[in-house]
Parts: sequence; structure tokens; C-alpha cells
Amino acid sequence: MGSRDRLSVDALIYFFFRSGEDEESFRGKQLAPWVPTRAELIPYIMKLAKVGKGDVFYDLGCGDGRVVIEAVKRGAKGVCVDINPDLINEAKLKAKAEGVYDKIKFINTDFFNVSLQDATVIYMYLLTFVNALLRDKLEKETREGTRIVTLDFEIPLWTPIHKVRIPIGYRDAVIYLYIRGKSDKP
Ligand SMILES: C[S@@+](CC[C@H](N)C(=O)[O-])C[C@H]1O[C@@H](n2cnc3c(N)ncnc32)[C@H](O)[C@@H]1O
Repeated sequence: MGSRDRLSVDALIYFFFRSGEDEESFRGKQLAPWVPTRAELIPYIMKLAKVGKGDVFYDLGCGDGRVVIEAVKRGAKGVCVDINPDLINEAKLKAKAEGVYDKIKFINTDFFNVSLQDATVIYMYLLTFVNALLRDKLEKETREGTRIVTLDFEIPLWTPIHKVRIPIGYRDAVIYLYIRGKSDKP
């Protein structure tokens, strides 16, 4: 499926969910399926966000923790948030195996419940309508200069600072970099 088709599917999901439901009805629910970021994309994500020492790296919907684990290996502190307790346990086991367990905070909850005030980098591999739901929270809680990276799905109404397209066989993956204070202004 091409990226345009995937976005159309995403738009359909958005309208399906939105019909007759207000934003409160999305709370406490799994809003995106578990699909891991492909290993070969992770170095591009790290490079685009310039992840390093002094960073506090959040993955909102962290799955098995693979992206946070790479961020902490590059010197960041990590925060791994997922609503699915099995995935949080998997992330803990993976972090232990990689020797970085102590550098990551694991939070098993809905990402809407987590304060983002100390984040310097936020990663989101979600869906466009979920990015739209999180946009207000990002605008209210993050500091200017915070780097926000999304994979394959944009943040509606924000302008990416960089967009990297990487061929991954049957399709191109697209990584978007947004900067709070720049991307969210008209
Ligand atoms: C596409 S996967 C991405 C996993 C990981 N970030 C990665 O890139 O490998 C989306 C993840 O978001 C999690 N998720 C979905 N809705 C959530 C919510 N409301 N709060 C926290 N996590 C959520 C899912 O459980 C899933 O692990």
C-alpha cells in the first residue's frame, strides 16, 4: 500500500471514530495498533532529531521500547509510555537485556495522562488522527525547541522542518521532524 493509500485509510478511520464521538471518548483506549519501527529506520530517526547526551527522549506508544533503547544508548534519558502492559513488560525485558534498564522510565498508561514538560525529543509512530488529538497537548506542555519526530504520519496543521524519505522495499517510509515554537506557528 502506498503512503497516499495509507493516509486515506487513516482519514477514513479518523472520520469513523469522530462521527458522534467527542475527544474525551478517546481517553484510555488503544488508538494505534502495535507495529514496530523497522530497525533500519532508527538511525535516521536519531540523526534527524540529533539525539544525544542531555536529551530526555519520550516515545508516546513505545511498543517494545526499541526506539527509546537506541536513544539512551546515545546518551539520552528515556521515557517509554504504552497503554498495553504486555508491551511495557517486553520493553523492560529488552532494556534489561541491552543493559539500559536504569536509564529508562517505563509508564504503563494512556499517553494523554503523561506530562511532557521535561521532554527534549518526542517520538510518535501513531496515526494522523491520533497526532491531531495530541497536538493541543504538545502545544501546551512542551517547551520551545522540543524536537518532535513522527514516522509515516504527519501532525495536521503543523509544518515539518525536515522530511526524510527512505525506500524500504515495497514503499517509502517518511520521517518528519517538527520543532515546537516553529512548526506550530502560522
Ligand atoms: C505503531 S506502534 C509504535 C511502537 C513504537 N513506538 C515503535 O515505533 O516501535 C503504536 C503503539 O502505540 C501504543 N498506543 C496506542 N494507543 C495508545 C495510548 N492511548 N496510550 C499509550 N500508548 C498507546 C500501542 O500499544 C502501540 O504499542
